[in-house]
Amino acid sequence: MKKTVLCSVAFALVLGFAATSALAAAADVVTYPAAKAPMGKVIFNHKAHSTKLGDCAKCHEGTPAKIAMNKEAAHGKACLDCHKAMKQGPAKCAECHKK
Ligand code: HEC
Ligand code: HEC
Ligand code: HEC
Repeated sequence: MKKTVLCSVAFALVLGFAATSALAAAADVVTYPAAKAPMGKVIFNHKAHSTKLGDCAKCHEGTPAKIAMNKEAAHGKACLDCHKAMKQGPAKCAECHKK
C-alpha cells in the first residue's frame, strides 16, 4: 500500500515536470524593478506583445527562451529600438518607467 502511494506521488511529479517543461512559457506580464535607480518599474506585457507582433522571432533568436535584461538591452535592441523603428510603443522615459 505504502509502495503504491509512493509510486503515485513519483508518477505525479514526473507528469507535473513534463507538463511544466512542455509549457515553458513566459509569464503574461513581467515587471522589471529598475529599483536601484529612482526611475520606477517597467511593466512588459509579454502576452500583448506576442499577440500584437504575431512572431516570436521579432524578439527571440532560435527557440524562445529567457532574455537577459539590463539598461543597455532595454534601451536598445530588446525594447526601445523596436518601438522607434515601428513608431509604436513608448519611447519616452516616463511611458515605460512607472513609479
Ligand atoms: C516583444 C518581444 C517578444 C516577443 C514578440 C516574444 N517574446 Fe518571449 N520574451 C521576451 C522577453 C523580454 C522575455 C524575458 C522575460 C522575462 O524576464 O521573464 C521573454 C521570455 C520568454 C520565455 C522564457 C520565460 C522564462 O522565464 O523562462 C519564453 C519561453 C518565451 N519568451 C516564449 C515566447 C514565444 C513562444 C513567443 C511567440 C509566441 C514570444 N516569446 C514572443 C520578449 C518577447
Ligand atoms: C519587436 C518590437 C517590440 C519590442 C522588441 C518591444 N516592444 Fe513594446 N511595443 C511594441 C508595439 C508595436 C507596441 C504597441 C502595441 C499597441 O499599441 O497595441 C508596444 C507597446 C509597449 C508598451 C505600451 C503598451 C503596453 O503593453 O503597456 C510598453 C509599456 C512596452 N511596449 C514596453 C516594452 C518593453 C519594456 C520591451 C522590452 C522588454 C518592449 N516593449 C519590447 C513593440 C515592441
Ligand atoms: C521602452 C521602454 C523604456 C524606455 C522608453 C526607457 N527605459 Fe529605462 N529601462 C527600461 C527597462 C526594461 C530597464 C531595465 C530594468 C531592469 O533591468 O530591471 C531600464 C533601465 C533603466 C535604468 C537602470 C535602472 C537600474 O536600476 O539599473 C535607468 C537609470 C533608466 N532605465 C533610465 C531611463 C531614462 C532616463 C529614460 C528616458 C531617456 C528611459 N530609461 C527610457 C525600459 C525603458
